[in-house]
Amino acid sequence: MQQMWTEIDSFIDSHLIPNDPILEQTLENTAAKGFPDHLAVAPNQGMLLQMLIQMNQCKRILELGTFAAYSTMWLARALPEDGYILTIEGRDTHAAMGQENIDKAQLPQTIDLKVGRAADVLKALPEDFEAFDFIFIDADKQSYPEYLELSLKFSHSGTIIFLDNVIRAGEILNPENHKPSIEGLRTVFKDMQNHPRILSCTALQTVGSKGHDGFALAIVK
Ligand code: DHB
Ligand code: MG
Repeated sequence: MQQMWTEIDSFIDSHLIPNDPILEQTLENTAAKGFPDHLAVAPNQGMLLQMLIQMNQCKRILELGTFAAYSTMWLARALPEDGYILTIEGRDTHAAMGQENIDKAQLPQTIDLKVGRAADVLKALPEDFEAFDFIFIDADKQSYPEYLELSLKFSHSGTIIFLDNVIRAGEILNPENHKPSIEGLRTVFKDMQNHPRILSCTALQTVGSKGHDGFALAIVK
């Protein structure tokens, strides 16, 4: 099935995803430096992020897990010129790649890349740090439960939280899989269930060029 999913993603992209030199340059530069491409969002998912941000006229975005900043470019595209992104990356090599791509892009929005474990960076923010309108959780899956709680701390009523990669080819249902990443995803589903600070939430499975995975989406009460 993978080949068909990839072909259909190409079909969708060729019709609906505009060619953007900054997005292309980001992918090309990242590949040229020898980084894998499977960690990046698919273009049609990048467009979904852009649209959620546009629909809600978000101006302040938090991203956990920058990798090479390809998703960051999608987030930035959706923002007005005075928009702000705080993006956090735990691995030095990924952060260096991400910063290089951000610098090359020369976008008008403020993109603040911080290096460190996302939870530590968030805990070090001032208590009165202005809340975010949109939060993209995409760092280590093991820590998603902690990232959800910290995200809620920096949210206002109406903040949208998008959690990437919550299905992992169905591994969340494999009783033999006790990897910390998979356990983290199981826990975050339990945490979202009837959470007092979440107005509504869902998750969708996806198939495509990145295989079988999915995302969860929550609106803060
Ligand atoms: C992985 C992580 C991601 O955030 C993603 O989108 C795809 C794969 C991974 O760790 O394998
Ligand atoms: Mg991801």
